[in-house]
Amino acid sequence: MRILITGANGQLGREVARQGIQHDLVLAGRDKLDITNTSQVSSFMREVKPDAVIHCAAYTNVDGAESDEDGAFRVNVVGAQNVAAGCLETGGRMVYVSTDYVFDGEKRDVYREFDAVNPQTVYGRTKWQGEEMVRRILGRHYIVRTAWLYGEGNNFVRTMLRLARQQDTLRIVHDQIGTPTSTVELAKAIFQLLESDSYGTYHATCQGQCSWYDFACEIFRQTGKQVKIVPVATGEFPRPAKRPAYSVLDNYMLRMTVGDPMREWQTALKEYIK
Ligand SMILES: NC(=O)c1ccc[n+]([C@@H]2O[C@H](COP(=O)([O-])OP(=O)(O)OC[C@H]3O[C@@H](n4cnc5c(N)ncnc54)[C@H](OP(=O)(O)O)[C@@H]3O)[C@@H](O)[C@H]2O)c1
Repeated sequence: MRILITGANGQLGREVARQGIQHDLVLAGRDKLDITNTSQVSSFMREVKPDAVIHCAAYTNVDGAESDEDGAFRVNVVGAQNVAAGCLETGGRMVYVSTDYVFDGEKRDVYREFDAVNPQTVYGRTKWQGEEMVRRILGRHYIVRTAWLYGEGNNFVRTMLRLARQQDTLRIVHDQIGTPTSTVELAKAIFQLLESDSYGTYHATCQGQCSWYDFACEIFRQTGKQVKIVPVATGEFPRPAKRPAYSVLDNYMLRMTVGDPMREWQTALKEYIK
């Protein structure tokens, strides 16, 4: 299968490229393909004619998006529109990666694919609008929502390990609950979907749930680091974008269709740290 990977230098892009090695891969970082450039995307896709696009490019600076709505919209919505239109023209399928931040986090129970969305941030809103754009343009789509992603790049695990070298005590939020998800597990699910004709919307996170505080404790337990961690409330860390208090996703549609290959978050973390 000829697969185009957008955002190929990002965390997920790199892992998808690693796992997709048996395919005919076309890796496109921003330098090669700026997804906001409509004519560039159109001519690039006409030339490559991919059977599928794994669309990993996104505006992912959640706090930065609050003061740069147009920038986030251009990448997350117009970019998705350009790629979906390119797929429509060239006959390819599209994986659009989305986020738990499409939900407001007020449900206090796991979110399934057909729960009502209510994004509370510019990032969440533009990712939702990007989803909708893809749904309207292209029937043969997989919209894959994930959460708390870490892989090769800047992420919570690396931040914790860096801070532990610099400070004796860390204060970590204990009242936001979600599911840490490695790019390894997410990429597995994406390829499993791509092998199928089961188009639609999917949740794809590791199994289980925890707070950022629990996540930090587990990182230090697994790496054997001695750090004092103090649980604190979200209110003590004011940030521009309001995070959902509870955004655990249930991989219901994966279980109902192609099967859910994603492992427990602690197991995935162990592999990452190794
Ligand atoms: N990270 C998370 O915790 C998380 C959680 C839920 C969902 N997601 C979703 O998962 C997907 C992958 O996230 P990630 O963590 O891999 O993000 P990432 O590491 O930030 O990678 C995103 C990539 O997109 C590229 N990009 C930005 N604007 C572009 C443009 N105009 N044209 C082409 N490429 C552009 C970036 O390039 P530059 O490096 O040049 O900016 C970067 O390489 C995204 O859709 C994200 O919304 C992420």
